[in-house]
Amino acid sequence: MRVFEIQENFGLENLKMSDRGKPKPGPGQAVVAVRAVSLNYRDLMMIRGHYNPRQPLPLIPCSDGVGEVVALGEGVTRLEVGQRVAGAFSQSWIGGPPDAGKLKMTLGGPIDGMLAEEICLDAEGLVPVPEYLSDTEASCLPCAALTAWSALVEQGNVGPGDRVLVLGSGGVSVFALQIARMLGAEVIATSSSEEKRSRLEELGAAATINYAQTPKWSKEVRRLTGGRGVDHVVEVGGSGTLEESLRSVRTGGAVSVIGVLSGISSPLNIIPILMQHLRLQGILVGSREGFEHMNRAFEMHRIRPVIDRVFGFEESVEAFRYFERGSHLGKVCISLVD
Ligand SMILES: NC(=O)c1ccc[n+]([C@@H]2O[C@H](COP(=O)([O-])OP(=O)(O)OC[C@H]3O[C@@H](n4cnc5c(N)ncnc54)[C@H](OP(=O)(O)O)[C@@H]3O)[C@@H](O)[C@H]2O)c1
Repeated sequence: MRVFEIQENFGLENLKMSDRGKPKPGPGQAVVAVRAVSLNYRDLMMIRGHYNPRQPLPLIPCSDGVGEVVALGEGVTRLEVGQRVAGAFSQSWIGGPPDAGKLKMTLGGPIDGMLAEEICLDAEGLVPVPEYLSDTEASCLPCAALTAWSALVEQGNVGPGDRVLVLGSGGVSVFALQIARMLGAEVIATSSSEEKRSRLEELGAAATINYAQTPKWSKEVRRLTGGRGVDHVVEVGGSGTLEESLRSVRTGGAVSVIGVLSGISSPLNIIPILMQHLRLQGILVGSREGFEHMNRAFEMHRIRPVIDRVFGFEESVEAFRYFERGSHLGKVCISLVD
């Protein structure tokens, strides 16, 4: 069974193909023949050793993947052989509010991820995916889509007529745009690329801002909202964008703190948070029940993940090199079947 693993040292140059024995399911487990994987910024951080420098190696990276159940262990009743499933990001977070235990067992670090021909997981950590989606489309759901869903629906309570700001055109942000539109909200999106701005408008953004040309983009967000500010910001930028995000949100509004694309720490003026009664909500992907709920909504609204490019399994390192350049819009995938 072929896998890609980060071997003795971190770094993309150390992501190598190797052979591991075929997994056999123990009681309560299922073996999945992986058909497609999608890449997340977290995977890149994990490979570089920036996510957790103490992560034991070797590690099979990638949180997101979909495949077919090929073997079941004793006692498994919730799945069938032949069913198409995705791995839940937090393997032990089935539902309810998170706690330390539920957030420990995450795919693609600390436990082995999906960039393998086969994976053996607890059956409780697998989720059937909607049939109308292709394998690559379905592989985008577990991390990027669920994060956007948790921010806007499970935590955000976003509804019709609300205004949502999404930052950049990566995986989480494009899903946030699609989900916000599905909920009847209006979306303002930022991007550093004029070409991507047009595409984001085609995807339903009411207005877009070039954050590279307009570094104080919160002023433009305020102008576009008649001075009020947006109801919700899907904040994926981190230290380089949080201050502008706080200036973009209305009094009493919410900022979902999700990503660190521009860094993890910088001095922060906390006055607007208290004076304007803002809510900052950290998000770590979401639960299996949240994933199942999202799948039902996607199925009803026929939401299709936006895929920028698909690579073959042997091209996995190239796929990461392409992904780290940041020229993609939406998701970059790896197919193990075509
Ligand atoms: N907390 C969680 O549960 C969770 C889950 C998933 C992801 N994340 C985090 O969320 C972030 C996004 O992840 P992803 O996988 O969606 O990333 P991604 O696909 O790699 O996003 C790349 C895009 O982000 C945009 N970007 C980069 N720097 C930016 C900046 N300073 N301001 C605004 N946009 C910027 C760029 O868009 P343009 O080219 O359009 O400028 C770039 O193309 C990462 O930090 C990731 O670790 C967190």
